[in-house]
Amino acid sequence: KSPVFILAIESSCDDTAAAVLQNDKVLSNVVANQAIHNQYGGVVPELASRAHQQNIVPVIDAALKKAGVAKADLSAVAFTQGPGLMGSLLVGTSFAKSLSMALDVPLIAVNHMQAHVLAHFIDEDGFDKPEFPFLALTISGGHTQIVKVNGFFDMEIIGETTDDAVGEAFDKSAKILGLPYPGGPLVDKYAQLGNPKAFAFTKPKVPGLDFSFSGLKTAILYFIQKNVAENPNFIEENRDDICASIQHTIIGILMDKIKQAADQTGIKQVAIGGGVSANSGIRQAMKDAEALYGWKTFIPKFEYTTDNAAMIGIVGYQKFLSHHFETANVAAKARIAF
Ligand code: KG4
Ligand code: ZN
Repeated sequence: KSPVFILAIESSCDDTAAAVLQNDKVLSNVVANQAIHNQYGGVVPELASRAHQQNIVPVIDAALKKAGVAKADLSAVAFTQGPGLMGSLLVGTSFAKSLSMALDVPLIAVNHMQAHVLAHFIDEDGFDKPEFPFLALTISGGHTQIVKVNGFFDMEIIGETTDDAVGEAFDKSAKILGLPYPGGPLVDKYAQLGNPKAFAFTKPKVPGLDFSFSGLKTAILYFIQKNVAENPNFIEENRDDICASIQHTIIGILMDKIKQAADQTGIKQVAIGGGVSANSGIRQAMKDAEALYGWKTFIPKFEYTTDNAAMIGIVGYQKFLSHHFETANVAAKARIAF
């Protein structure tokens, strides 16, 4: 059987990414980050789509070159259809459409959140693939969900945030501490130097498997304001302990709910995905859960945690095998269910 070569394009938010897969193996995985947003403290949609337009051709060329695959050898083009920022999605969608038409190969639409879940099916040395059914905790800047994954395209959201996403909780806490956007990775960095029990923040009480992070953000804001009023150097003097305590609280919230989901469903295979799964604390907590609860856990390779096109490519490969193709009428969708 001849190998399948998929070119995958991801442009849902502020990263322009392209990857080439040979079957379920990643040959190249290129990401261009958009530094332009950092000075604004968040992603500016108009700037994001303009940067995607500038980046998309060089990023795709780099991915093909790195993979050593010619355009003529491609079996299909896969792209992120949504969810995401409309202007950003449109850049990848229109590019994928015209390329698939020019090369006369199938066009494959991929759901970004499904891709965060299915990234675990990329063939990588030292990484096992989950078996169905498994639970996936998808944690990113836009989403916080517990997903029951019954099959490649059979997923149910059994819990989700009622307000902020967990990535926002990290980024907004970081902002309160005066750290630049996106603050999640910085909170993680300082947390590793601090005492997670230094300060206590109350965990929200949310029924069932749902999450809430807006109350925590407010609690952190008041805590900082109160302490800075008493000691203007409070943040500088306690930065590591504050970050460690915030991170400890957020991870506690996530682990409580995923444990509850595992108990409720009887499923002992648990995966994490999305940008926040890069966090050292959540990665450690998941590893510890193996011995603690008898789970088998799946923690993605670092480069497949934050937004990337390799995860779009693995879904593209699965859809290619099941002939799940689109016509040129397919449209980008800012909101899209599983
Ligand atoms: O999946 P992603 O790249 O984009 C979205 O689809 O949202 O996730 C980005 C989010 C940001 O909120 C960022 O601060 C957070 O993931 N993040 C982290 C870490 N690395 C990225 N949060 C905590 N610790 C990290 N190490
Ligand atoms: Zn994402």
